[in-house]
Amino acid sequence: MLTGNALKAALRPLYRGLCRAYTNARFTPSQHAERMKSAWNQRARENAWHFIATGKTDWSEEEFFASGERTVSEHILTDIENICQGKSPDRMRVLEIGSGAGRITRALARTFGEVHAVDVSGEMVRRARASLRDCLNVHLYENNGMDLSVIPELPFDFAFSYLVFQHIPSYAVIEGYVREAGRLLRPGGLFKFQVRGNTADESKADDTWVGFAFSDECARAMAGECGFEARYQAGAGSQDFWLWFFKKQ
Ligand SMILES: C[S@@+](CC[C@H](N)C(=O)[O-])C[C@H]1O[C@@H](n2cnc3c(N)ncnc32)[C@H](O)[C@@H]1O
Repeated sequence: MLTGNALKAALRPLYRGLCRAYTNARFTPSQHAERMKSAWNQRARENAWHFIATGKTDWSEEEFFASGERTVSEHILTDIENICQGKSPDRMRVLEIGSGAGRITRALARTFGEVHAVDVSGEMVRRARASLRDCLNVHLYENNGMDLSVIPELPFDFAFSYLVFQHIPSYAVIEGYVREAGRLLRPGGLFKFQVRGNTADESKADDTWVGFAFSDECARAMAGECGFEARYQAGAGSQDFWLWFFKKQ
């Protein structure tokens, strides 16, 4: 008979399944999306840069955008083979989901030919437009918080998302974005993104800060259901669980 921690571990998948069912039953994806829009507009008005990168409350513009350059150095420039697959970056069209105030978008625009970036918060998009006025290869869109219908139907070479899905409490909304990225990516193209991986701690249905936590199995199942191969992953069990989903050919 299982006892103590072994019993807890055995029951965890059941508990997670119940939490997921409850979150989906409590709000539809569009209700979740409306709640996220309102919460993120409020955060943007209060202190946009702090809620984007919580390490500081008083970022200078220079420091804030330098932190985006570091994100691109750490997660993109070290991974050019998977991302570019032999293409020259300046000939690539890139999609960013949850671009906030353009912290990473600006650095993406220095590396890639064309960047299309979407965010649920009109307030965040307004700030990104002001800061990225000089980036002529960037296209910024406010979306509905659940799909990519605002993006033109163009073939994308690479899709990226960081510090976004970790705040989305609904599995269905995240899955919707993965399907949408698959719709826009070229066959073989990579969607590299980060989710919350610390499954010990469940998000609440009405939360817009602590998002759905992915286990390894859950991430693999999502890839299969959405037409991707989950080829690599890093950081399972931690806050920064990175996934490399390659669109099936
Ligand atoms: C912590 S910020 C990160 C912004 C940006 N990725 C960065 O690292 O600088 C999270 C961003 O995700 C956006 N966001 C949250 N839920 C979203 C959703 N359902 N659809 C699109 N964007 C969303 C928020 O508006 C916010 O701008």
